[in-house]
Amino acid sequence: MKIAVFCSGNGSNFQAIIDACRKGLFKADISLMVCDNPNAFSVKRAEKEGIKSFTIERKAFSSAEEFEARIIEELKKERIELICLAGYMRILSAGFVEKYKGRILNIHPALLPSFKGTHGIKDAIDHGVKTTGVTVHFVDEEMDSGPVILQEAVKVEETDTEASLAEKIHSVEHRLYPEAIRLFIKGKLKLIGRRVKILP
Ligand code: GAR
Repeated sequence: MKIAVFCSGNGSNFQAIIDACRKGLFKADISLMVCDNPNAFSVKRAEKEGIKSFTIERKAFSSAEEFEARIIEELKKERIELICLAGYMRILSAGFVEKYKGRILNIHPALLPSFKGTHGIKDAIDHGVKTTGVTVHFVDEEMDSGPVILQEAVKVEETDTEASLAEKIHSVEHRLYPEAIRLFIKGKLKLIGRRVKILP
């Protein structure tokens, strides 16, 4: 299966996906890394790993449609079958989601539907929850709202800071995202309404 990973920043999840694939957790070709930020470390990771990257800035386009159309052109060129958003801090339009319906995954650093948005870890700390976690879900037209594939809880200790909690969450993310991709590739994810049934 040909995968594109979308990033905006560090790309540690992108790295975890590459590492899991190399270790043989799933059979895929990570063909492309799409990035909307030329200064992102994920661009360096792609270079080091020999993965083609496509960096594209929103400000170079007069509309979101044109920006996405250019990305879609690249995805088509590479015959991408699965898109994994990994810290991609942009909302995909309904038109984009429709084109790749059921073929876009996202990881979020909280137990959705709690703490949606770009500051899931800080928001959980600020709210004072005792448990937060990680969610991998299918992407739909709304932000952080699609059907949940996998979730795992992470305890918030009284001594936790945003940084220490982020470290715990990232280590769960790096295990959970590759596992969700493995299930997808194996055809084990059955969508029934909003629910994702994991087949044996
Ligand atoms: C991850 O924690 C991911 O869950 C989060 O961005 C981080 C990216 O880290 N995504 C969101 O908050 C999406 N709403 P990475 O670049 O090191 O993979």
